[in-house]
Parts: sequence; structure tokens; C-alpha cells
Amino acid sequence: MTQKIAFRSFRSIQCRILRQSRVRRTFLLAFQAGSPLVRSLFASLTLLVVAMAVPVAVAQKIQLSVDVFRAGAKIDRNLFGQFAEHLGHGVYDGIWVGPDSKIPNTRGIRNDVVAALKAIKVPNVRWPGGCFADEYHWRKGIGPQRTVTLNPNWGGVIEPNTFGTTEFMDFLGQIGAEAYLSVNVGSGTPQEASEWLEYLTTAQPTTLAKERAANGHPAPYKVAFLGIGNESWDCGGNMTPDYYLSQLKIYSRFVRNFNPAQQDKQQMLKIAVGPGGGEPRWTEWTDAIMKAYQSHTWSWDMNGLSMHSYTVVKWPPSFTSVGFGEAEYAQILKSTLEMNDLVEKHSAIMDKYDPEKKVVLVVDEWGGWYAPLPGSTLGFLVQQNSLRDAVLAALNLNIFARHADRVRMANIAQMINVLQAMILTDKEKMVLTPTYYVYKMYVPFQDATFVPATFDAGKFTHDGIMLPRIDAIAAKDKAGKLWVAITNIDPNQSAEIELSLVGINAKSAAGETLSASKVDSVNTFDAPNTVVPKPISAKAQDGKLTLKLEPKSVTVVAIEQ
Ligand code: AHR
Repeated sequence: MTQKIAFRSFRSIQCRILRQSRVRRTFLLAFQAGSPLVRSLFASLTLLVVAMAVPVAVAQKIQLSVDVFRAGAKIDRNLFGQFAEHLGHGVYDGIWVGPDSKIPNTRGIRNDVVAALKAIKVPNVRWPGGCFADEYHWRKGIGPQRTVTLNPNWGGVIEPNTFGTTEFMDFLGQIGAEAYLSVNVGSGTPQEASEWLEYLTTAQPTTLAKERAANGHPAPYKVAFLGIGNESWDCGGNMTPDYYLSQLKIYSRFVRNFNPAQQDKQQMLKIAVGPGGGEPRWTEWTDAIMKAYQSHTWSWDMNGLSMHSYTVVKWPPSFTSVGFGEAEYAQILKSTLEMNDLVEKHSAIMDKYDPEKKVVLVVDEWGGWYAPLPGSTLGFLVQQNSLRDAVLAALNLNIFARHADRVRMANIAQMINVLQAMILTDKEKMVLTPTYYVYKMYVPFQDATFVPATFDAGKFTHDGIMLPRIDAIAAKDKAGKLWVAITNIDPNQSAEIELSLVGINAKSAAGETLSASKVDSVNTFDAPNTVVPKPISAKAQDGKLTLKLEPKSVTVVAIEQ
């Protein structure tokens, strides 16, 4: 991360100005003679020179080179997964309003939310938690009569169970996403989980399959991903690695997917609980699970290891989600970039036991976690979503894409109304967040092939906090089109990017750019278009494409040949 600044040496600038001056001879003589007036004039001139040198530094173009011949791993579309927990207004009000609601809905599911999510091509949704999953009993959420329970994790509120298995699978069908179910290991039993999967997936006329048919779905459902527990080292039951391993083996053995279409191809991937940070406690956890995986027998298996990492800086979360300045912008982004080290740390342990990278590192909870909005219900994790979150999302997605050989799935927390959400709702109102727009702009990266981009990231410094000024990734989609995503982290300086593309005769670039006037600019129900993408384009000149990026912006362009 070295920054190339075009400061000419101080001395050479002084000399150049002196050379150009008509009075240079007089000045030099007087200076040599030591006149105080001339010395002070010289000092002023020096200041002027330094001031002149700064714009020279800013104006320098940043070279970004992409070699299309050097293709890397596939950026799995599942990296753009979502997470919907029974928490606050994440499910109730956010997705589910019920069939009798005045809010336009299809079988109780909000039409506006469905349309918005379809546009970002959500690949999978993790449900029903989170901590909630380890207290969830699926039978209470099926059939015409639902059991009313509590949600002790999140505010102790009533859980009506009106949104259950049928409704979740219906919702997935409406948005076109795969199911990522998190089964209850903490307070449930292997039998309960195994019956849930039988209910969902068998094509045989069992009593459970008949019950599913009676509830409106005769055909088996597809369950693509199965999470075996959630944070079992903490809210999921405070288990030690060994205790969790014994549970993992039992659940992996008995919780089967019977869907005939998933026996050979499209097999359900089982995801084990993994680390929640980078400290020894977590590296030991990863080591224990992966070591066991290495010597696993025919009777149990795992295909993924989950990792949770929020950008929070201080616990309990105290950074505000709106009404902050550049200091908080820099602190949060510095912290979020630690995701890179975390991924590398745990990937290295996984490589030791699984060099073929069969087990996916699934970052199934990540995002900015800030102080709850004043006046919001305790435990509902309500926060605003600013331009800073858009930049944060892009930086993390770039990290995942760079590690796409191991990180093949990720789920931002959480989809609607909770933490770093895509969508905020309030009764009939809905607003799309800056993070939503990043996901929309990144759609072309889903299942595209990573292509390494080389660039000099430069530096942005605030109060001793140093960040790269620029971040970028590139990828080739299935049709062979090249896409480049560039984030200008610097909140004050625009960036001129000179793109050189090896292996492509680029004629132009076109796409969208997302920025706003302030680091904490947000979209609200009253002003929903404060942070929305704008078109951006460039035409090649002398074989080069130059893009001028606004400060604090995320840009995605397609290269036209
Ligand atoms: O996303 C909120 C909570 O954070 C989840 O329920 C839990 O898994 C994590 O600690």
C-alpha cells in the first residue's frame, strides 16, 4: 500500500521557480547577501510552493491494470447471500404482513420487498437465526393453528409463529432464492431436526409428507444449505469445541435431505459452526473442527465452516449509524478491513487439513453493527444505513471475491430492518439503503470469474488512521464481459483512474457510481434518493480509459470492446 505522490523534491521546485523568475539574479544575490526582507519573501515563496505541490499530488492518475488472461476462481453467487432472523422487524413487518394486510402482499408476503429483492438476485437466505434458531421449534410454525411463543433472545416479545416453514419457502420462491436453514442444536434434538428435513424434502408418502401436502405443498422442497447450530460457543449453547463436535457428528448423520433431485447433483451442503473472531479461542475452534473433518468417516460429513465477524469496534456497539463524521468513518472502515486478515487466518488453518479446499468458509454473519437508533425497541437492533455502509459492503465483498477459492458463501446481517439492512420498512413505507445499491451494482459479479487487478492503492489518513485510498476488483461474467468495481475510500479527494486492460481492446466503459455529499448520508422514507447510483462512463483515448471517481464512492463499470 504505497502511495505514489508526485511531490517533486522540494529543492528542485524551488530552483524551477527561481529559474523562471525574471528577477532571479537579483533575488539570488540578495538572498546570498542575507537580506531579512528577502529571506521572509523566500519563506512565503516556499509556502506557496508547498501549497502548489498539493494539487499536483491530487491530480495524479491512478493506474489500474487488469490482465484478462489471468483468470482466477469463480466468485460464487452465494457470496451475496442474505440473513433473515426472527428479530425485531426483520421478518414481521419486513417480509410478513399477513394476507389480510392493506399493504400489497402475496399470501402475506410484501410485494414491494419481493420486487426489491428480486432486483438484487438474492442467491440464498439464512433463516430462522441467528441465536433465534437454537430456540426454534419448527412444528410450532406449521399448519392452520400456530403456537404463540416468546422470543427471549430479542426483546422477549411475542413470537406468533405465523411466519413458519411454508411461508419461508413461499418467500424464497417469490424472490428466487435458495434455502439456508439453521437447525436447532442448542435446545432441540437430532430427531426434531431430522423430522423437519423429512417434512421438507421427502417425496415418499410419509405422515410428515402428507402433512406438508395438507399445508399446501405436495412436492418436496429443495433445501440447499443446512447450518448445524449457530454460535454454539455462545448463544447456541456455550459448547466447547469437543462437545460441539459430538453434536455435529450426530446431526450430520441423522439430519438427511431426502429430495430425489438432491441426491446426486445439488446435494445439500452441511455447514458447521466455526469461529467468531481471530483470537486463540477461535483459531483453536477452527483447528479442532477441521482436524476432525480431516479424519471424518463415511457416517458424517461437513461441507462448510461458518464464520461470524461484525464491524463493531467497541462492544456494546456505540458508534452511531448516522450523525457521525470522518473520524468514525475512518475508524469503522479500518476495522472492517480486518476481515481480510481474519479470512486469511482461518483459511490457513483450513488449508492445513483440507488443502483441496473442499470445505467452504461461509461468512454467514457480517456487516456494521452500531448503537440502536434512539427510541427504537431494545433488542431490535435498529440502525440507519449510510454511505459509509455502502463503502463497507463493497470492501468486504471485494475481500470475499479475492478469497473466492475458499470463501464461497457469505450472508450479510441482516436483510431487512435489522443491523446493516438492504431494506427499511415502516408500515406501508419502504426505502432501499445504500448497501442495497451496492448489492445491485455487484450483481454482474455473481458467478463471474475473478480477474486480478493491479493498482497502487495509495493512502487516506485521518488522525493517524491510515486506510488505502482505493480498492478494486475485476471479473469476467459468463458472457465474457469484463466488469470492474472501484471504491474510492477517500472522503474528500476524487480519484482519476486510468484503466489499462491487457487482452482486451477496450473502447469504452459504462456503469454506475454511488456517492453522496456526506459520509453519513442516508436514505429516509421522506428522502429516499439521497444515496442512489448515477450513470458513469468513459471513452477510450489513445487506448486508455480514464474514470473520474467522486470522493467516498463505489463504482461498477462494464468494459465494452
Ligand atoms: O445478527 C444478530 C445476532 O448476532 C445473531 O442472532 C447471532 O448469531 C449473532 O451473535
